[in-house]
Amino acid sequence: MKKLFLLRASLSHAAGVALAGSLALLSACRGGPSEETPVVPIRNMYDQDRYEDQGRSPFFADHRMMRPHVDGTIAREMENDPVVASGRLEDDSAYVLEVPQIVVSRKGGMDALLHRGQDRYNIYCTPCHGSTGDGQSMVVARGMLAPPTYHQDRIRHMPDGQLFATITNGIRNMPGYYAQIPIDDRWAIVSYVRALQVSQAAVPQEAPQ
Ligand code: HEC
Repeated sequence: MKKLFLLRASLSHAAGVALAGSLALLSACRGGPSEETPVVPIRNMYDQDRYEDQGRSPFFADHRMMRPHVDGTIAREMENDPVVASGRLEDDSAYVLEVPQIVVSRKGGMDALLHRGQDRYNIYCTPCHGSTGDGQSMVVARGMLAPPTYHQDRIRHMPDGQLFATITNGIRNMPGYYAQIPIDDRWAIVSYVRALQVSQAAVPQEAPQ
């Protein structure tokens, strides 16, 4: 009976040591940097076959891992109307004169588009262009060269598509917003810039004779 007890005790002792040992081993894999080869229990999850940028692949005839676009395809989230995406006519000969109708209707009408534009303009453009678009802004007050006012004939007569392209690509010292502002919001801002221009361009009343 006593022997059996001793045997059990030493067995559980051995199990305890083994458990502590394996815990210590596992914990060595985590935490701070180490010079030791890492312990990776399931290697096939760690080292997977994958394509690397600029890598070479025996699978394709040209051996390039990076594949060119398949002709006529676009990514799912891309705008599929080139006029809406670029602000230029289908044959790329000139800028479109007005915000494309498809954008107005999918944003819920001109009223909704303008409100959205006001909201986005106030976030993205006022820091530099000022809330009326006259170029007097916080950033200018802190020393940046004032951007041109929107209330000059050159910008008043600019096609809507060119304003859109200016927001998209930036111009000279102004950064482009293609990554931060989605396409429809850029068009919404264009329509709000138009509203600002109208608001600042009251036709002077004829003085009574
Ligand atoms: C970081 C500051 C900054 C922000 C933000 C900014 N702009 Fe500009 N913008 C400029 C500057 C500077 C210029 C003048 C660029 C030049 O001529 O060097 C300019 C020029 C322009 C012009 C005139 C382009 C021309 O043909 O002369 C338009 C229109 C314009 N911005 C619209 C916008 C709109 C709309 C937004 C908001 C989406 C915006 N900008 C956000 C700095 C900014």
